[in-house]
Amino acid sequence: QQTRVAVLLGSTRTGSLNRRIAEHLRDHAPAGVTVDVVEGLDTIPFYTEELDGETVPAGASTLRQAVASADRVLAVTPEYNGTMPAVLNNAIDWLSRPYGAGAIVGKPFAAIGATPTPYGGKWSHEHARHSATIAGALVVEGIVVDESAVEGDPLADEAAVQRLLGALDALVAHEPIAA
Ligand code: FNR
Repeated sequence: QQTRVAVLLGSTRTGSLNRRIAEHLRDHAPAGVTVDVVEGLDTIPFYTEELDGETVPAGASTLRQAVASADRVLAVTPEYNGTMPAVLNNAIDWLSRPYGAGAIVGKPFAAIGATPTPYGGKWSHEHARHSATIAGALVVEGIVVDESAVEGDPLADEAAVQRLLGALDALVAHEPIAA
């Protein structure tokens, strides 16, 4: 029985540090775990109830199906102006509706990622966890990996790679990261 993890990427940048992390987790997931990076988050219009009816924009439908069929949700995201990028916030908004029955409801969730700054996206991850909680996800407490001061390659530091893979393991196990 595979555990399926849907990754929500907070960056749409070519050469994104966070995409490289997400793809590394996808390509090095442990046996029994399938990681899918949800593509096209930047094609989804900003959430408004007028767009959310019997039909929804194609990207939103893809996002909802990807998360509905996943067992876990992992946000891998940088920080913009002290919070999560709008593309990730919008994805969480789409996943939060229909109210009480959104695709993210009841899904174990964690937020991790990297920035080149000394802050490591701490606020972004905190805010993503908060928003996901309000949206109905089950945020797994204690999964905190805010890779800071990343110079170029977020995978160059083996200890960082192990922290990131450890976060994936913890989310799959639905447990805090072992100290
Ligand atoms: C940033 N960046 C940033 N970094 C941070 O740690 N805290 C912050 O508040 C911000 N704010 C911010 C705003 C905007 C508009 C941009 C474009 C960037 C820097 C950011 O962490 C850096 O660009 C990352 O490399 C972006 O992640 P990806 O695209 O490499 O995954």
